[in-house]
Amino acid sequence: MILVVSSCKHYLAYTWRITRLSKCYLVVLYVLLIGVICIALSGLKGLQLYSRDTWVDKFRNGNQSAFALARYVKNICPKATKSKLATARNAHYCVHHKVMYCPVEKSGSTFWRRVFYLLHGWNKSYEHPFQVPVEKALSQHFESYIQLRLWKRGAIAPESFFMFMFVRNPYTRILSAYVDKVYPHNPVYWKKFGVPAIRTYRQNPSKLNLLCGHDATFEEFVKFVIQRVLSNKYMLEDVHFASISNMCNPCKVSYDFIGKMESFQSDSTFLLEQLGLENSLNAIGESFSNMSVYDAIVDSVNGPYSWRQDLTKYQCITWNQSLRRLWRKLQLRGIISFSQSYPFDGIDPTLISKEEYIQCAWNAHWFSTKEELEIQKENVLKEAYGSINEEDLTRFKSAFKSDFYLFGYDETPAFIINRMDPGSSYKYLSFVNI
Ligand SMILES: *[C@@H]1O[C@H](CO)[C@@H](O)[C@H](O)[C@H]1NC(C)=O
Ligand SMILES: *[C@@H]1O[C@H](CO)[C@@H](O)[C@H](O)[C@H]1NC(C)=O
Ligand SMILES: *[C@@H]1O[C@H](CO)[C@@H](O)[C@H](O)[C@H]1NC(C)=O
Ligand SMILES: *[C@@H]1O[C@H](CO)[C@@H](O)[C@H](O)[C@H]1NC(C)=O
Repeated sequence: MILVVSSCKHYLAYTWRITRLSKCYLVVLYVLLIGVICIALSGLKGLQLYSRDTWVDKFRNGNQSAFALARYVKNICPKATKSKLATARNAHYCVHHKVMYCPVEKSGSTFWRRVFYLLHGWNKSYEHPFQVPVEKALSQHFESYIQLRLWKRGAIAPESFFMFMFVRNPYTRILSAYVDKVYPHNPVYWKKFGVPAIRTYRQNPSKLNLLCGHDATFEEFVKFVIQRVLSNKYMLEDVHFASISNMCNPCKVSYDFIGKMESFQSDSTFLLEQLGLENSLNAIGESFSNMSVYDAIVDSVNGPYSWRQDLTKYQCITWNQSLRRLWRKLQLRGIISFSQSYPFDGIDPTLISKEEYIQCAWNAHWFSTKEELEIQKENVLKEAYGSINEEDLTRFKSAFKSDFYLFGYDETPAFIINRMDPGSSYKYLSFVNI
């Protein structure tokens, strides 16, 4: 395997030299040839690895709660539906390590895609997942099932793979999708979620609302999500809100490990160890949560700065508003306390650099106490679901019924029981006075 990779690299290096020396068509030919050789060799590599002596058995019967959840799901699923060859829609495979991961958006999928990047060993200079650039991790397909089928027709042994996924409470997952994609400046998701939500559920929307989709409320978003999920049409679902059971097929695919977003750090640390990524764990040290928070800040800030040019096109919101919403987003996510107010009041927004913004957000995070942030997250949940009426709440439960049931989430947790009066107006999730 190492031999294969290094000989591939050697060929590529050789081709690179020719590029400079001779004509273009020769290079194209070489690249094609090498591509074919590499694909053929990786196919062989996969075949060779198919024996049952895997590390999987080593801890398939482990004691960690994520194993227990996987066993629980197996027990409560109807037996008849299981199938050895079933897979999940967008499952990622790493053939070399015999691992399959079903990504669930808003449940740590970026982190695990970065881990897959490391597992594939594409760039040895990254020591741990947080160093892998997000865009690199997201652009990989990680040996999708279709590819696997082509390479190893008949030879695939799915039961020899270690299969895992991470799940999340549907209430917090949908709120997280809203806070991450709809509330802040994000022309892509405004168009995808905001515009249809406003068009369908708002009475007398303005032209600008319909054009931009920039101010869809949580209530409108939830109505839109419920309708899409209940429609049961694959094309209408988006990975950010599709039910986890639909995406990952847990009654057909025999998962070994089902981690939870609610215990993400300990489940992930445990799994990284089992995957042989001790080096990553050592490099992360005690800084797992530090790195996650910093990463979340950088990622949140990058968005609006990369769409800044778009603002002049439609003038949906001003740059001033974009930066203010960004601050509020970090507060809604529980990264910055509401007591830390927007730090750039009275400063010309065009003069605020991305680096400065990140630094201020990071500082504000350190001025926020853990207790404060916990209470705040609970309050945001109570406010958000306070705007959802009983009828929609019932439909919400039915849209995500299998996620509640299979993964052991309470359909009526405390923040739903104690939510604000339906119909009360937004304070935290408001678009004005921020
Ligand atoms: C498994 O968990 C139980 C209860 O948490 C504990 O008592 C037991 O020692 C654990 N077994 C192993 C092998 O870790
Ligand atoms: C690998 O990572 C290093 C360090 O971040 C980076 O400088 C380099 O460009 C990367 N190489 C490739 C091929 O992506
Ligand atoms: C997290 O970051 C802060 C601020 O940079 C630093 O003071 C603290 O020591 C870090 N904590 C850990 C565990 O790395
Ligand atoms: C930015 O928005 C705030 C709040 O809406 C407002 O008070 C302030 O005057 C605005 N600043 C600029 C430069 O437009």
